[in-house]
Amino acid sequence: MNWWENEFLKVKNNRLYLEEQPADEIAKTYGTPLYVYSRKQILRNLQKLREAFSMEKPGLETRIAYAMKANPHPGILKILLRAGTWIDAVSPSEVEAAHKAGFPENKIMFTGTSISREDFERVLKHPEVTVNIDAVEQIDLLAAARKKLRRRKPVRISVRWNPGLGRGFCSKTVTAGSRSPDGTPIKFGVEESQVLPSFRKLKRLGFLPVGLHQHLGSGWTEEDFPVAVKAVDRMIKIAKELKQAGFRLEFLDFGGGLGPIYRKDQRRFPLAEYAAYILDKVESSGLELKAIVAEPGKYLLANAGVLLVRVEYLKKSYGNLFACVNAGTYNTVPRPAIYEEAYHEIVNASRVDGGKKVRLTVAGHLCETGDVFGSERSMPAPRSGDILAVLMAGAYCRSMASNFNLRPIPGEVLI
Ligand SMILES: Cc1ncc(COP(=O)(O)O)c(C=O)c1O
Repeated sequence: MNWWENEFLKVKNNRLYLEEQPADEIAKTYGTPLYVYSRKQILRNLQKLREAFSMEKPGLETRIAYAMKANPHPGILKILLRAGTWIDAVSPSEVEAAHKAGFPENKIMFTGTSISREDFERVLKHPEVTVNIDAVEQIDLLAAARKKLRRRKPVRISVRWNPGLGRGFCSKTVTAGSRSPDGTPIKFGVEESQVLPSFRKLKRLGFLPVGLHQHLGSGWTEEDFPVAVKAVDRMIKIAKELKQAGFRLEFLDFGGGLGPIYRKDQRRFPLAEYAAYILDKVESSGLELKAIVAEPGKYLLANAGVLLVRVEYLKKSYGNLFACVNAGTYNTVPRPAIYEEAYHEIVNASRVDGGKKVRLTVAGHLCETGDVFGSERSMPAPRSGDILAVLMAGAYCRSMASNFNLRPIPGEVLI
């Protein structure tokens, strides 16, 4: 069995099946390039996450808030709405899309960075949405937006703080601490010394601070566990200080980051241990919270989607072999072009294992050297017309895709 096989991706008679349908038949029916998402796999992922957090802690609810930036497809939002998740939205347009899909305002939290007053006005048109501020400097803008809209009802507020340490699968996805490993200053969150002053200012201005939030980064695997739990400790400590200062919080939001496995050599993030750690620490903290929140994006969606592309021809040049396909990374699966460390497994869906294997680079149709889905991959020699499946394409693929070279963004089907 291949390491990536699961209930969604199965091999039968040397062909790749997506749930019960052969991938190359789906490709024939709908054309390529094509994203294919599995409803069942999204729900399986959600179920696993819920099981991890299912330890009974009387009076403490676990909210799963889907980070819709991972994939805002309306059909996916509907699936998660029916399954009872909340929403993490990071732009006014995401707030509007979530609301349009049916999410009640009081299950949406807006977390914005570099926000304008106009952005806040759009968000506050949904009065029950919780606003998660990312900077002390945002508070005046928020107050100005509220005044312009003559909103009397108190706005529910959370504060995204920066716990001083972060973790992600690469520098560009570390979102807390002072600088990411490559030295980039990190723009997110309110630094520790400003948390209490922010709560005081919010209260003075008539806002209703109800929560504290942190998000360390994205794509955690086993080695990220020690940092993740250290950040939990820091969150509990500062929440206790807020309580002592008279702020009783309704929830602590521990952000996203929970990584699925993208490559064979990665070890899974110990989700159950992490969940147990949070629940135990919260229970023994005396904080009397109503809820804890997890904000997964990748965990719910990444392995529930693939991109199907067609091989046009094989090309040899200076000793390199290329499978030239009818899609470009930037328009479809941009992660390998954006993050050097990002890896997506590529499977020849038309002949998964059989025949002689070759080493080749899967090259896209854009005018850019970085437009390769994968370099030097070993797979059964593809033929012109074969369908390749780029795996783990459910999260941060369609939502990050562009029209570079005026190439269209592929269609999407939900099976
Ligand atoms: C505030 C916030 N929450 C949650 C997430 C989701 O992260 P992931 O998809 O790694 O779970 C992100 C991702 O960037 C984020 O910025």
